[in-house]
Order: sequence, then C-alpha cells, then structure tokens
Amino acid sequence: MRSKIVAGNWKMNKNLAETDSLLTELSAKLPDTDAEVMVAPTFVNLTRALQTLESSKIEVIAQNMHYAESGAFTGEISADMLLNIGIDTVIIGHSERRAYFGESDAILSKKVITALKNGMRVMFCFGEELDDRKSGNHFNVVESQLKNVLFNLEPSAWTNIILAYEPVWAIGTGETASPEQAQEMHAFIRKTISEAFDSTIATNVSILYGGSVKPSNAEEIFSKPDVDGGLIGGASLVADDFIAIVKAI
Ligand code: 13P
Repeated sequence: MRSKIVAGNWKMNKNLAETDSLLTELSAKLPDTDAEVMVAPTFVNLTRALQTLESSKIEVIAQNMHYAESGAFTGEISADMLLNIGIDTVIIGHSERRAYFGESDAILSKKVITALKNGMRVMFCFGEELDDRKSGNHFNVVESQLKNVLFNLEPSAWTNIILAYEPVWAIGTGETASPEQAQEMHAFIRKTISEAFDSTIATNVSILYGGSVKPSNAEEIFSKPDVDGGLIGGASLVADDFIAIVKAI
C-alpha cells in the first residue's frame, strides 16, 4: 500500500538559526499522523537538522545530489556524503534545477541511477510548463519526462521511488492546479506506469502534487484518490501553514 507523504522543500531559504527555530516549532506542533512528513533544508544545515529532529518523526531529506560517486566536481554533493550523515531520500528533477541549472532528462537519469544504486530513495519531480498546458501537450510532456528517466529502470527500483507532479505554472505563482486537474494528471501518470510496468507498481507508487499548496486548498487536493500528498514550497517555510497542510492529509 502506498504511503501518504507531506514534504517541505525549503529551496534556498533559512539560515542556521532560522532552521533551528522552524524545526523546533515543527516538531513541537507535529500532529499524530500516519503520513510521512519530510523537510528538505539547504545542504549546509542538513547535519544540524538531523540533530534537531533526532527524536522527531519528521524525516530530513536532500534537495539534490550529483550523479558521480566522487571526484572533481567543485561545489557538488555525492550520494555517499548524504548517506554518511544519515540522509537517505533525495529530491531529483525539480523544475528549478531543470530551468536554472540545465538539468536535462539525460542528467536526471544518471542522478536517479546513482541514487538508487546507493540504496537511496528518490523523490522524482516533473511537470509541464504553461505553454504545454495551453497547447494541450501536457500529457505528452509528462509522459516523456517519466519515460526518459524512469522507464528504463528495473521494476524492483520502484519501491524506492516517490513521484512529485509539479506543473511549472503553479510553482510559486499562487496559481494552483485545480483538484480535478491534479487528479486527472495523477490518474494519467498511474495509467502510464501501469502500461510500462504493471498495475501493482502503478498502484503502490506515491504520487505527490506540488505547486502553490496552502492550508486553504490542501484538503481538497489531498481528497482526490490518486493524490497521495504534497511537495510544499513557500508554505513549508511557515510552521503553522506546514502543520495545517500535514493535518489536511
Ligand atoms: P510552492 O509551494 O512555493 O508553489 O513550490 C512548490 C515547489 O516547487 C515544491 O518543490
């Protein structure tokens, strides 16, 4: 059975003192929940975040990693470095990495393979741009993003994959996909995976929605049958908002 998940992607926000303070507040206010709750602070604060959350159910995850095992890649972070400090889940493929750092499907495929090879869990992000949706091309775009990065994996790899559908036009814009648009795409994603692999894999993979999720819209989005939770940006930076979204799952 697939898990419900609420994850906060903090992006390039929160210094050390702010990280301490937000995590302390989150762990104090975390409700009793069956959902997995995750936060992704910046790399430099991951160790501190793990310490602060030592006795909390909140999991600390990473926002990115490099595909090489080690070597001359100035400024980069390897899977081994993450695992060695106690991080075993990593976000790969966020639209900001694709748009601002040139991460193509080919690069993302290498990252996913390295993460899985090292025994990590991957939260793979994808989603169409506004022009794709306006031209009715959104299903094709999403299908090719999935195909180019995930469809050459062994079926067994899917137990370590979480999907996060994030339409680019809804990220940080205040514009949310309607619950119906989210459900329609999530059902399409499951159908596509079922055709490429099998229905068990498609049924068991958690598919999160991301893009302007807030306390006011979370419950309706999460109520859709193929939406298993959310990847939250802006609202994850405010303790009461993130907690309200966790309560909505
Ligand atoms: P917002 O919730 O700020 O729209 O960001 C979504 C996102 O990009 C999470 O990864």
